[in-house]
Order: sequence, then C-alpha cells, then structure tokens
Amino acid sequence: MYRSHTCGELRMKHTGQAVTLSGWVQRSRDLGGMTFVDLRDRYGITQLVFNMEVDPSLCLEARKLGREYVIRVTGVVTERSNKNPKMPTGDIEIAVEKLELLNASKIPPFTIEDNTDGGEELRMKYRYLDLRRSPNLKNLELRHRMAMETRDYLSSQGFIDIETPCMIKSTPEGARDFVVPSRMNPGQFYALPQSPQTFKQLLMVAGYDRYMQIVKCFRDEDLRADRQPEFTQIDCEMAFVEQEDVLETFSGLIHHLFHAIKDLRIGRIPKMTWADAMRYYGSDKPDTRFDMKFTEVPDLAKGRGFSVFEEAELVVGICAKGCGDYSRKQLDELTDFVKRPQVGARGLIYVKYNSDGTIKSTIDKFFTEDELREWMRRFDAEPNDLIMILAGETLRTRKALSELRLEMGNRLGLRDPERYEVLWVVDFPLLEWDEETKRFYAMHHPFTSPKPEDIPLLDTDPGAVRANAYDLVINGVEIGGGSIRIHNKELQRRMFQVLGFTEEKAQEQFGFLMNAFEYGAPPHGGIAFGFDRLVAMFAGADSIRDVIAFPKNNSGRDMMIDSPAPLDEEQLKEIHIRLREGI
Ligand code: AMO
Repeated sequence: MYRSHTCGELRMKHTGQAVTLSGWVQRSRDLGGMTFVDLRDRYGITQLVFNMEVDPSLCLEARKLGREYVIRVTGVVTERSNKNPKMPTGDIEIAVEKLELLNASKIPPFTIEDNTDGGEELRMKYRYLDLRRSPNLKNLELRHRMAMETRDYLSSQGFIDIETPCMIKSTPEGARDFVVPSRMNPGQFYALPQSPQTFKQLLMVAGYDRYMQIVKCFRDEDLRADRQPEFTQIDCEMAFVEQEDVLETFSGLIHHLFHAIKDLRIGRIPKMTWADAMRYYGSDKPDTRFDMKFTEVPDLAKGRGFSVFEEAELVVGICAKGCGDYSRKQLDELTDFVKRPQVGARGLIYVKYNSDGTIKSTIDKFFTEDELREWMRRFDAEPNDLIMILAGETLRTRKALSELRLEMGNRLGLRDPERYEVLWVVDFPLLEWDEETKRFYAMHHPFTSPKPEDIPLLDTDPGAVRANAYDLVINGVEIGGGSIRIHNKELQRRMFQVLGFTEEKAQEQFGFLMNAFEYGAPPHGGIAFGFDRLVAMFAGADSIRDVIAFPKNNSGRDMMIDSPAPLDEEQLKEIHIRLREGI
C-alpha cells in the first residue's frame, strides 16, 4: 500500500492512528534533534517529524532527502506543539517510524512554491514541475469542476454530447487554418477545425436538436493573453429556436456556473445592442463594471474654428470623476497613452473642472468659459472632475477612447476582479466592410441569419443589415458568441452573393452544407463559449495560459516538447512535401 491517506486529509481526529503517506518533499528543516519534512501531494501538505533521540539512523536518512524526492512514510498522527493555523493539516504532524525513498529528484530549476522564482519561459519548459505548484493545481481543478458542471447542466436540459471530427475541410471562421497533409491523397490536406460550426449545423439537419461538446478548436492567428492556437469551446446548437430561446437557455448555464462554482447569484443578464455598445463604450465588449459612458458633443465642438474638431467625423469624450486635480505630469502620461500606436489617437484634449469651480482646458483659446460650462453640463461633470475628449474618424476614435476608458478604470480601481458584470451584446451587424479587399465579410460567419426585417437592405445598404447574432461579455471579455443560422437555401445563396462568392466557389466550399439544407433543415441557432476564457475569468487569471495544462507561448511554441519541429526528409517525402530552398 502506497498510502492510507492523502497529504491533505489528516486532522486532530486522526491523532493516534498509524498512517502511510506518499508524496514529494516540499522542503525540510533540521532543528537540533528534530528534522521536519513537508510532504506534498495534489491534496495538500503534511508535516513529517523525525526525532534524533527516538531513531537516529532514520533521522539521518531524512536529512539526506532533497527537494522533490518522492518518498513513502509510515508513522503515527500526533498533535503538534507548534500549530500552524494557515495549513488545513496544521494541527497535526506524523511521527515517522518508517521512511522509504521511492525516487530521487534532480534539483528543480525553480522553487515549487506559490511565489516561485522561475521566469515564465523556464516554467513553460518544465511545465510538469510548474503544474506541481498549487496556483496551477487550483486552476486545473477549477477547470475540471466547470467542465463537469457544464456537462451536467446541459445534459439536464436535454443536450447530448456528440463528438465531431478533428480532420476536416477548411471552416469559414475567418482565421487561418492549421492543415494536415494527407499521405494517401497526394497534394491534399485536411484542416483542423476552427470550430465544429458546420458539423453542429449538420447535426441539426439530422434531428439531434440539442447538441453540446467541450471541444478543441484550432486557429492560426496572432496570439495574445486571451488567445491560444488550440483552445477549447463549450460548443452548442439547438433546433426550433429563436434568438430569445438561445439567450434564455445559455443565461441558464451561466447562472448555474456562477452559482455552483462561485456561490454567486448574478441576476438577470442585461442586453445591450451592438450599436449602443459602440456608441457608449466604443467597444463590442464593454466592461460594464463601471460607468464612464461616452458623450458625443458634435454640436458643442463644431463651428468654433478649432481645426481638430472641425475636421473630425466624431468628437467624443468621457468624464473621470474625482480626477480634476490631475497634475500636468499625469495628464501628459494620459496623452502619451492615447498616442501609443496600439491606441492610435493623435492627441488628448482635456477640460478640468477644478474644485474651486474654475475651468481649465487645452481649448481655452477656442471656447468661452460659458461654452465650457455647457460642456460640463453635458458630461454631468461636477467640481474636481476631468473631461477627456478625442476627435477624429469614428471607429478609430471610439476604439482609442475605449482604451482610455479602460485605462482610467484601472487607475481608479474600478475594475475589481472579484466583481462580475455579465452582458449580452445583441444585434451585431451582419457584414463588415474591408477597405483593403473592397468587399464585405461576414462579421460572425456566412451562415448567420440577418434580422428578417433587415433582409431588404441586403440589396440597398448591406452594411446596415443587422444579424441575429449575439455575444456574451463578462467584465469586458468576449466569453462567447453565436447566432441564429440561415436555414433557407435561397437566403444562403443570396448571402454568398453578397460576400462575393461565385455559385461554383460556394458549392465547392460549402456544397455539403447547402445540399444538406435541401433535405429539411429545421430553424436552428447556437453559441460557443471560450472555455479557457471562462475558466480564466472564474480563476481571476490574467492569461488563459494559466488555466491550460500545456499551453503554447506567444510564438505558438510548446517550449516543453519543443514544437513545432522540422520533419526529416523521409517523412516529408511520404506526405509529398518538398520544402522551398533555404527552409
Ligand atoms: P467564435 O469565433 O466567436 O464563434 O468563438 C467562440 C468563442 O471562442 C473563444 N475563442 C478563443 N479562445 C481562445 N483562443 C482563441 N484563439 C479563441 N478564438 C475564439 C472566444 C469566443 O467568444 N462557431 C462559432 C460559434 C457559433 O456561432 O455557435 C464560433 O466559433 O471566447
């Protein structure tokens, strides 16, 4: 028997019992006649004690144990004289009678402690050691519980878990595909799914009217803290539903997860239209933990001869409460912030409403004090508030002000990670214009249904067509997205036309789906949640890497197994691939 108990289990009620534990040596200390060893496993840490007076040779053996050695001990649970209230097992220790070395360990390249001394790259390389640390352990346990709760809940709602293939043909999600060469079909490739989108729609045609899957997806896109090349979705689809039914069902899932995992009741999830989200927050994923909404002031700004405002498509600002006393240095910092290329504004205009009621601004030359007082009223500003204005082209200005709003939220401590504001953003535009290729792209994907009342606009003003598409946003993070799909073949054909597909191209790429739609496709719709993002949100983690057992780094590399890696000549030949000179 390797163990009678785990290292997290023993309490006062076990005193006097003979137990056997196995685990890793976290650390050991020699205090005169006693040697203490902290023994760790997945469940916790238990203190072992070796007494020189009782058994000198055993004690000497214990002193030879290095960090991360794997041992088995047998001994008696005893009450500690020096209790540690911070540890669940802190009331007891094991007076060891038998020690067995199961395996030695090299000195680990970083300390296996909550606050480790190892840098990120090093920890990625030795991920199996990093995973021994308790923050990672807690995150993976949380992930497990969330997956179980999700499956249980959806199963209780009649969803069935169906696996879809990983070797498929390109799916039209908009990112690049990862591809897999076929040995048996020279010159042909599978694609790894960016999502099971088309398969889940085919399952609806097949009559499996509530589908779910916790599934790996693959996208070859630039990486960020909330993106990985392979990530996991809670993917779902339902038949015979309208948008409201989908939102209702998955509000249920989100409520359930908050309740079951965090013991929180989050209340009814509000809805905001995409147009309002853009207008008031400059973002389709607004962080609604704090207000600081945008105020547009074209009428106040224009006609006073200030060229920045005169030439601008949009003049818009925010009011930061209690920041009227910002120093020159702080204001310069904010100006530098908005001018960063990632933010993209040309400059920052501010109006300070001083505590004594006077007003100071960067545009005093162009506006009278009375006019600026009208600005104050429009922004609901009070003494000691700061108004910050950006001007320029609409989308760009909104995006920049959105960044500034989030920065102010951070500075003012308004983005409390312990608080959760959940939101449905609805009525996304169906299409997005791309200046470079001068054509429309589907904002979500080409199977997303336009709002029926907007269908006539497809002919006259495609950019204005709204879709039955929705996102779930928590604390400013896009957690999920979905839509009601087109199930009518004619409408799908029209959609492909608008997207610039020829009949042949549409048939070649999506023929399998369009053909299926000729065999009685039910009205259907669905959603997919980014599972890694959802877990990271619940864990309070900064990056989804923290909740993935074996993540890739920012260059898409697995530092531990060192991949991607070259193939040898023979392997390449087999899959009919010849590398370009110099690669
Ligand atoms: P979408 O592309 O919006 O929709 O993806 C759904 C959710 O998946 C998460 N996500 C990611 N998470 C980590 N790394 C990535 N690279 C990554 N890309 C996306 C996001 C996102 O909200 N088939 C549709 C869903 C549907 O219409 O039903 C889809 O995949 O949290």
